[in-house]
Amino acid sequence: MVNKRVTRLRESLSERGLEALFITNAVNRRYISGFTGSSGYLLITATNSWLLTDFRYMSQAPAQAPAFDVIEHAAKPIETVKELLANAGIKRLGFEQDAVVFSDYSNWSEALQGIELVPVSSVVEELRMIKDDSEIAIMQDAAKLADETLAHITGLLKPGMRESDIALEMEVFMRSRGATSSSFDTIVASGERSALPHGVASARILQDNEFVKLDFGAYYEGYCSDLTRTVFIGTPTAKHREIYEIVLEAQMHALSEIKPGMTGREADALTRDIITRYGYGDRFGHGTGHGLGMEIHEAPRLSKLSDTILTPGMTVTVEPGIYLPGFGGVRIEDDVVITDNGIKILTSSPKEFMLLG
Ligand code: GLY
Ligand code: MN
Repeated sequence: MVNKRVTRLRESLSERGLEALFITNAVNRRYISGFTGSSGYLLITATNSWLLTDFRYMSQAPAQAPAFDVIEHAAKPIETVKELLANAGIKRLGFEQDAVVFSDYSNWSEALQGIELVPVSSVVEELRMIKDDSEIAIMQDAAKLADETLAHITGLLKPGMRESDIALEMEVFMRSRGATSSSFDTIVASGERSALPHGVASARILQDNEFVKLDFGAYYEGYCSDLTRTVFIGTPTAKHREIYEIVLEAQMHALSEIKPGMTGREADALTRDIITRYGYGDRFGHGTGHGLGMEIHEAPRLSKLSDTILTPGMTVTVEPGIYLPGFGGVRIEDDVVITDNGIKILTSSPKEFMLLG
């Protein structure tokens, strides 16, 4: 059976002069093979695709990864790797240096004497950066579920509710509609806490006349969505309105201008320049967005430091914010896919200033 992802990986290995790659990152393993178990390794050569796992998965793994030869590994998996490499005559083995702990590396070096261990980074992650149509379809569903969750929860928000109970209600809603879990710890940050860019839901009780920042997503069929809206309970002051409108202007501008061919840095500047022009540049201390996919944060970044060229098939967030300690904060976030001539926005929740309560 042909697995296109293995074919692309082999091309990448050949460009890097690597005979074989040992994949220990569980997300990369799932992406390349389809196998979702809690433990397993891939060993890919120019002609072999092996999936090594243990007794628990000897039925599940062949069913999920039909393009792989599934092998039940020895008590020490590296002993099986050693045997397979010897039979295949492999002398240089790439390994994912960002997915190995020092003790494993030491054990491998000892077990694989005579084989050169070559540290590599981002080999599979670079493939994952460009989503195919099937991935984008799942991400669209994950985004829609986040939109539905926002509509559900904004219908319930009122003073007296506890942030953590709101987060729980959102989680139950998402899971009852097919999500495996939230895609990260749900942020419900009300009042002064809304100035915390990552104010994970706490025991705070919602009051009248304050922002509530909701940042959450669904982890659905192996992919993440990530949606932020900031709503208001009660009657806002001019300052609340001011920062909301600035963030909205910055976010809408970026959504209208982001195009393939731009760098992550140029995309970041689309929101940052507007927020800076209004005098709040130093209150926007994070990047404009990040890649999104099987992980909540992946390549590419939309930040001052990113030289990555935005390319069709990349999926990123666009999420400028302004955070005023002691007062409150606003962030507005959507998920988008880069297309041949611009973007397609996957999330569709309303973003005019929403007054509740
Ligand atoms: N929405 C969470 C984050 O982007 O970090
Ligand atoms: Mn995000």
